[in-house]
Amino acid sequence: VTTTETSTGATVRVHPWDIVIVVQPGETVFDAAFRAGWIWPTTCYGQAQCTRCHMKVLTDDTQLEPPNEVERLIVGRLVRVSYRNDPDVCIRLACQTRPTDDLEVEVKQSPERRST
Ligand code: FES
Repeated sequence: VTTTETSTGATVRVHPWDIVIVVQPGETVFDAAFRAGWIWPTTCYGQAQCTRCHMKVLTDDTQLEPPNEVERLIVGRLVRVSYRNDPDVCIRLACQTRPTDDLEVEVKQSPERRST
């Protein structure tokens, strides 16, 4: 396991890559990853446009704020096309999601180490 930080924030465990990211209150998963030295998959850099940052939520998502309108629309399209509208799949955008409690997610493409 690569834990990138230890503090009191929510812990996001990223499967199947064995990456753990600590998200501070109010921070998105995307921004927390960047702060911790990772480049999360993206082409729009957090603008809720590319869906490249999307993650499958594996744990209870009730702690998460519901998606805003922009996220809801773009994720709805993605779930229709890529997940055949599977009602059991919970997809969220890392660039819009601000977890308040520990979370397990799965992403297809591994975040990459940012060069300093
Ligand atoms: S980074 Fe492009 S949608 Fe999140």
